[in-house]
Amino acid sequence: MNIDILTLFPGICEGALGESMLKRARERDLATITARDLRQWATGRHRVTDDMPYGGGPGMVMKVEPIFAALAELRTPRSRVVLMTPQGRRFDQRVAREYAREEHLILLCGHYEGVDQRVADHLVDDEISIGDYVLTNGALAALVVTDAVVRLVPGVLGDAGSAAQDSFGEGEGRILDHPHYTRPEVFGDWRVPDVLLSGNHAAIARWRREQAEALTRARRPDLLEG
Ligand code: ADE
Repeated sequence: MNIDILTLFPGICEGALGESMLKRARERDLATITARDLRQWATGRHRVTDDMPYGGGPGMVMKVEPIFAALAELRTPRSRVVLMTPQGRRFDQRVAREYAREEHLILLCGHYEGVDQRVADHLVDDEISIGDYVLTNGALAALVVTDAVVRLVPGVLGDAGSAAQDSFGEGEGRILDHPHYTRPEVFGDWRVPDVLLSGNHAAIARWRREQAEALTRARRPDLLEG
């Protein structure tokens, strides 16, 4: 898995890429993840990447030329180019699984009021939103996508079962995860449910299933429809 994050703020990505699962995936060569400064492809003395919107209005719009130049250099016939934008299709576990099968993702991060529409119209394969809110910077959204995708790459998670078992995993269909407990058994008045200490694996499995379904019904009934 090869991921290029194309952003005006590669520094935002460095911390996330240098810790925990993403760090391990990179160290083990299971994923090559590179945050690239879009300004590198901007020309002129000031390396300008944005300009005023035609038609007027507040804010600035990211220019097409640096993005065109960056993609001309980075893209191959097997790349999937994804524009991070609140106008995009909603990112979810299904999209994460789809992207985990790709060889090369280029995550293009917007900034300012948006990106010149000709980028979306002619240069990208997908437009993706991570949720119904507006971030000031697409790099944060690209990191969310990167994390969700890379953890699905075979070998990245220590326990091969754990990606399949969590919320929205392959195994259980699209429902929320059941609650988890670890030691101590009793903390003040707070006890671990008896069934989890029973050693009865069938009863534990049933309890987890019931908890997951009840939680999903209460919080995300939309997941149970259809
Ligand atoms: N850029 C700004 N907001 C975003 C969002 N919700 N999803 C993806 N990219 C974004």
